[in-house]
Amino acid sequence: MDSLPAVRISHLVKVFRLPTLRKREVLAVDDVSLTIAEGEVYGLIGPNGSGKSTTLKVLLGLLKPTSGTAEIFGEDSAKIGCRDTVGYLPENPYFYKHLTARETMHFYGKLCGLVGSALADRTADLLKLVKLDHAADRAVGGYSKGMLQRIGLAQALVQAPKLVVLDEPTAGVDPSGSRTIRDLILELKSRGITIVLTSHLLEQVQEVCDRIGIMSRGRMVREGPLDELIARQDQQEILLQGAPPELLQRLRDIVAQDGRARVLHAGNSRTTLERLYLEVTDTPGE
Ligand SMILES: Nc1ncnc2c1ncn2[C@@H]1O[C@H](COP(=O)(O)OP(=O)(O)OP(=O)(O)O)[C@@H](O)[C@H]1O
Ligand SMILES: [Mg+2]
Repeated sequence: MDSLPAVRISHLVKVFRLPTLRKREVLAVDDVSLTIAEGEVYGLIGPNGSGKSTTLKVLLGLLKPTSGTAEIFGEDSAKIGCRDTVGYLPENPYFYKHLTARETMHFYGKLCGLVGSALADRTADLLKLVKLDHAADRAVGGYSKGMLQRIGLAQALVQAPKLVVLDEPTAGVDPSGSRTIRDLILELKSRGITIVLTSHLLEQVQEVCDRIGIMSRGRMVREGPLDELIARQDQQEILLQGAPPELLQRLRDIVAQDGRARVLHAGNSRTTLERLYLEVTDTPGE
């Protein structure tokens, strides 16, 4: 028997009504469905305004769907109960600037019912996990963007969730900081935690995600296992370094003379996921 999926979103629609603007409506999410198996890392990608954060907020029960359903481990996600199993790093996390990282973790830990040595131990473990143990007693007001994202991650893990929702965990983080976050995501995956993330860093998404959803203008335009989405049985790639233009032209000429194949793309190499993304999200969402 198949186990219950960690996440199941079915025909989700979210319309924002803007009463001040003569009842104008924004169709933020338009009939989106997706399923995430327990233990998977799922990447939701798409242009700005395509509905990723809104989908996640409905999943977290922070927004009510206009229609459709969102379930976490088989339970309607609007129910309070299932939120205990879910950790969330919001798009723009806010922390009290005067609190230290340790105090911040204590604050969130207490909200989840942790006290005493359990709280102290969880805090120490998580600060170590996100590599902030050296800065545990500094006020987070002085933290860099990368450190803030990491304390945000630690905060999302405080109640030992089975599902972690990360809305742009690497936003504004430098390449080495985002590698640290990528490694953390892989570490969580190895512990069997299910992860949903959004990101604009396609290369990283391609590295960590098992399954991908590409959104454009509120719709899911591609969805499925990463391998299947980017596999093209009838396409091959030759990756060259330092090729002069004449050589590239000769290669093109050879292909043209042969006549059995076509050059689809020539130029600087791109990740395969990036190519698919650009194909299916032709225009920006906003
Ligand atoms: N509270 C709200 N009220 C009105 N419109 C909203 C609200 N939240 C989101 N929207 C609109 O819904 C659409 C989808 O927004 P959303 O934040 O889900 O996009 P996104 O894919 O997360 O974008 P980004 O990559 O910039 O984070 C946008 O047109 C946005 O303006
Ligand atoms: Mg967003």
